[in-house]
Amino acid sequence: MEKVFEVKNLQFTYRKNQIKAVNGISFDVYKGEVFGLLGPSGAGKSTTQKILTKLFKDYQGEILYLGKDLKTYNNDYYEDLGVGFELPVHFSKLTGLENMKFFSQLYKNHRDIETLLKAVGLYEDRNRMVSDYSKGMKMRLNFVRAMLNDPKILFLDEVTNGLDPKNARIIKDLIRQFKEAGGTVFLSTHLMNDVEELCDRVAFIRGGEIVEIATPRELKIRFGKRELKVEYFNNGTTSEALFELDGIGENKAFLELINTYEVETMHSGETSLDDIFIKVTGEVGNV
Ligand SMILES: Nc1ncnc2c1ncn2[C@@H]1O[C@H](COP(=O)(O)OP(=O)(O)OP(=O)(O)O)[C@@H](O)[C@H]1O
Ligand SMILES: [Mg+2]
Repeated sequence: MEKVFEVKNLQFTYRKNQIKAVNGISFDVYKGEVFGLLGPSGAGKSTTQKILTKLFKDYQGEILYLGKDLKTYNNDYYEDLGVGFELPVHFSKLTGLENMKFFSQLYKNHRDIETLLKAVGLYEDRNRMVSDYSKGMKMRLNFVRAMLNDPKILFLDEVTNGLDPKNARIIKDLIRQFKEAGGTVFLSTHLMNDVEELCDRVAFIRGGEIVEIATPRELKIRFGKRELKVEYFNNGTTSEALFELDGIGENKAFLELINTYEVETMHSGETSLDDIFIKVTGEVGNV
């Protein structure tokens, strides 16, 4: 698989701070994947994203973009990127459409602005000043702004944060479409829902260090309990029994139960990504 980024022993300290916000992280991002950087507040997600998008240049360690040192790229690098910041920054005295036109002319490549605004349900409001937009509208504008230059890589920082389920779905569908068209996505979030639905691989970051990199499926298998819970009808009430998943085919008690009673539900002991987040980072997600 082609590597878009190779990050080796990356370190970064904010000038006014003593401790490293990013403390020696290493990971690769492959072409065409949605790579999630997950972690609690203050873990170093946004800092990492700002380094990868060349906003912070005085880092230690090495970053290769398409096999070449990131430091050797000039501003042409931005032609390849779409960046959705954590806190949307728009010109509030301009309309949504004017904002899009302004940012579009900074690039060589252009997507059709009207199509983009329609995709996130902002076309009707295109001529309203952004200061009159709701938070969700600003977030949606933020997202399509990142798509303006038809990027190869999307950097998205908490991009569905604060969106209602319908608008979050619109954004997630657009991210999926982007990926299906061959795009690569670097997503930082603390929303496990996004990870579950979007990410091919996730890295957990805590205190500036990566504590785990895996696919969501691998994590679920690794942290899940190998158990099967059976709910069954017994004398007019629902009873519950728990079995080890290993050797279930020869488990006499299990076989007798399913032959004797009417089974209502069966569930393997999958651990939710929320639980995994807490186990891996030692903190509560979705906060
Ligand atoms: N501009 C800054 N100046 C000084 N320290 C900063 C600055 N921005 C972030 N930090 C510190 O760097 C560390 C990592 O912050 P960062 O913003 O990368 O976290 P995050 O994982 O994105 O958190 P959140 O989920 O809250 O967005 C924190 O300890 C934070 O206090
Ligand atoms: Mg952040």
